[in-house]
Amino acid sequence: MLQLRDAQSQPVAIHRGDYQAPAFWIDTVDLCFDLDPAKTRVLNKMVLRRNPDVPAQPLRLDGEELNLARVLVNGQGTSFRIEGGQLVLENLPAAEEGAFALEIFTTCAPAKNTKLMGLYVSNGSFFTQCEAEGFRRITYFLDRPDVMASYTVTLRADKTLYPVLLSNGNLVEHGPLGGEGNENRHYAKWVDPHKKPSYLFALVAGKLVAREQRIRSRLGGDHLLQVYVRPGDLDKTEHAMQSLMASVAWDEARFSLPLDLERFMIVATSDFNMGAMENKGLNIFNTKYVLANQATATDVDFANIESVVGHEYFHNWTGNRVTCRDWFQLSLKEGLTVFRDQEFSQDLCAEPSARAVKRIEDVRVLRTAQFPEDAGPMAHPVRPDSYVEINNFYTVTVYEKGAEVVRMMQTLVGRDGFAAGMKLYFERHDGQAVTCDDFAQAIADANPGSELARLLPQFKRWYSQAGTPRVHAAGQWDAAAGRYTLTLTQSCAPTPGQVLKEPFVIPVALGLLGEGAQELATQQPALFVMTEAQHQIVFEGLAAEPVPSLLRGFSAPVILDIDYSDAQLLALLAHDSDPFNRWEAGQRLALRRALKAIADDGFAAGQPVLDAAFVGAMREVLRHPQLDAAFKELVLTLPSETYLAEQLDVVDPQRIHAVREAMRAQLAEALFEDWQWAYEEHRDNGAYQPDPRSSGRRALAGLALAQLCLAARASGDTVWPGKAYQRFKDAGNMTDRFNALSALVASAHELAAPALQRFHALFKDEALVLDKWFALQAGSPDRNGNVLPAVKQLMKHADFNLRNPNRARSVIFSYCSANPGGFHRADAAGYVFWADRVIELDGINPQVAARLARALDRWKKLAEPYRTAAREALARVAAKADLSNDVREVVNRALD
Ligand code: PHE
Ligand code: ZN
Repeated sequence: MLQLRDAQSQPVAIHRGDYQAPAFWIDTVDLCFDLDPAKTRVLNKMVLRRNPDVPAQPLRLDGEELNLARVLVNGQGTSFRIEGGQLVLENLPAAEEGAFALEIFTTCAPAKNTKLMGLYVSNGSFFTQCEAEGFRRITYFLDRPDVMASYTVTLRADKTLYPVLLSNGNLVEHGPLGGEGNENRHYAKWVDPHKKPSYLFALVAGKLVAREQRIRSRLGGDHLLQVYVRPGDLDKTEHAMQSLMASVAWDEARFSLPLDLERFMIVATSDFNMGAMENKGLNIFNTKYVLANQATATDVDFANIESVVGHEYFHNWTGNRVTCRDWFQLSLKEGLTVFRDQEFSQDLCAEPSARAVKRIEDVRVLRTAQFPEDAGPMAHPVRPDSYVEINNFYTVTVYEKGAEVVRMMQTLVGRDGFAAGMKLYFERHDGQAVTCDDFAQAIADANPGSELARLLPQFKRWYSQAGTPRVHAAGQWDAAAGRYTLTLTQSCAPTPGQVLKEPFVIPVALGLLGEGAQELATQQPALFVMTEAQHQIVFEGLAAEPVPSLLRGFSAPVILDIDYSDAQLLALLAHDSDPFNRWEAGQRLALRRALKAIADDGFAAGQPVLDAAFVGAMREVLRHPQLDAAFKELVLTLPSETYLAEQLDVVDPQRIHAVREAMRAQLAEALFEDWQWAYEEHRDNGAYQPDPRSSGRRALAGLALAQLCLAARASGDTVWPGKAYQRFKDAGNMTDRFNALSALVASAHELAAPALQRFHALFKDEALVLDKWFALQAGSPDRNGNVLPAVKQLMKHADFNLRNPNRARSVIFSYCSANPGGFHRADAAGYVFWADRVIELDGINPQVAARLARALDRWKKLAEPYRTAAREALARVAAKADLSNDVREVVNRALD
């Protein structure tokens, strides 16, 4: 493959400021595919015209790993050259001559496509993936999102091997192919009524079956919904279909956005780099986010399917009808669509407490994945300024922080104001390729007089400045005057390429708790909008010193520094009216204890870390008669090792692991009777439903069982491991079964081995369940370095396959990225393993390799000997001559 490189053979960065409109527009594309795994022939007939706004220049079409057979302009042969991978045409009709026809005939080799970008084969069927720059691996094209064309697609293939032929839009013709050599071949012709950028093109061909559902929308349109899977998987499609129907209804109800197609298709494939893809009318999904039934999928899987199905469906408006002008604007569609899928999942919750649980889960992802990204070598603004490889910028910053930025807009203009802003956005930009500025402007213009409209230029610093802002809060109590003064100060640390930061607009939702911890009515509004480096908020007429509850609902993606006393945190945990801050108070109490033990030179494994007050508070929550099980499970789960590491300047992963394990063990023993009560009280045997309430009960029962097995480990008790094994054997659903298996594995009980064996035998034909089996072992708590040898064994297992991204992730990522205690070894063997796998994967699939490469992003914070060993591993990868742009960008930035 040809890559752009400068003289030192370093990949070249692309800059946002260099954007130029395309020199040509493509009006129509007529594609004809002769599908064959070894050699697929692609005839691409386009109608183009020059863009009158751009000086005349040659046409440069992107292409990658294509074999070019023929180029015709208006039916005639023409001169052309290949330059830097691009097909360059000099002698094209002048602007005055209007549109012209360009016909390009190429071939490609889908069976050899291990990158899973462009046209590839998975389990004998054809799939495509074109975002961001995969279409150029199918044909020569202006492969950029601001070139939008009308597509007609004809698929021709063997009838027996590929009975189903799908592409975007509507099926207009199909039937047998006539002519010699075509006896067993058929064709299908699809026309997409909507113009689209090339990254939304898709085709699928293979032996698939579909669950179908006809629906009538609120506006009266009739639509056909289809979920296509491999023949054995039809019994796992009901939940995806339900989620799709709920998505259609939600977008109409909340944003008045209807389905604009007669037919909407979802197709599942087990070989996929990402979660799913929003191709117009033909979404292609990783099987992980489609297939579920109670026997094979957990509650978390069900919830993920609901949100990913929603996410891709919502892209139909936010992404497809209005798309991105260039890839720097990626968060225009991704941040907004994540926000929409988060709101969708919340709106589907019957109870307000379940909404809060969803919010806490989303914030937990942001803080454990995005905050580290924002503090590390890959830190970038929500709208990046430059990239080497765009695939490296499908990040938690663009997605999750981008969603927080949209959420703050909604907070500033209100829910109705935000809906009005969305309406204006579509009135202005339907059918266009636009920028993040255009979006923010529409929300502000629809809300004149709002804080957002007033502060828009400053608010947009959230798009341009990287790094997580810190808000420091300090209260001052003047008892004589009955006055409480809250001083809020914001700052933001330098990030690569951005040393000085201007103040952000930070909406701080707040309240005060008075004596007896009741909510105080104050003259101050419940939302304070920070715009300066420092603010003072004065509360008058108070009888006693209040406890501030700040950043309620996590109203901004910032780190809140505040010096609460234990007593204040205990009061917030017990009484705050804001469930998010209740949970947060519990996390702060745990964090404080963890950090103290980590800093304590005298700490030795097994030594108590937790005091009676903390344990008592946890017991209160666990036994609380009103709180939801799901909420209890969140409070009783200690902050992750990754989150703990983020709080420290120098990170000793083994010490963090040891302290957190000690805390878990202590909670297990100190609350033993409470865990028993919780388990018996919350284990259900009734019919399985994946709703938030019943999944919350299963989650709490699962945590209780894990804690009981852990306590048994210390005491030598065999009753609870026995019960866990029994539960594992007769559980009526995967959630309970897998929780029981995890409890045995995490406590390293001897019953873990037979349980694992039995689990494998039961599910050897269910790829997604086997992924869980692999991931559980690779992610299990390390004991004396036992995980790495186990991981190496797993890679030799007959069911392991490095080419399948889900399987590679289930073993390698579960170890390198999700098991810090196992990965960071004093003997450096974890890092050696990591470097070998990055290099090995890079030869197969650079996108997956580059994700793995990020496991060492934070190496500079590591204590010795980890730091030196990690740098050596990074340097070894970087020294490899023929690395992909993807991996090279990641390791170069890490070493910088
Ligand atoms: N656009 C997809 C989504 O967020 C993600 C994706 C990106 C999938 C690139 C494949 C390739 O829904
Ligand atoms: Zn998306």
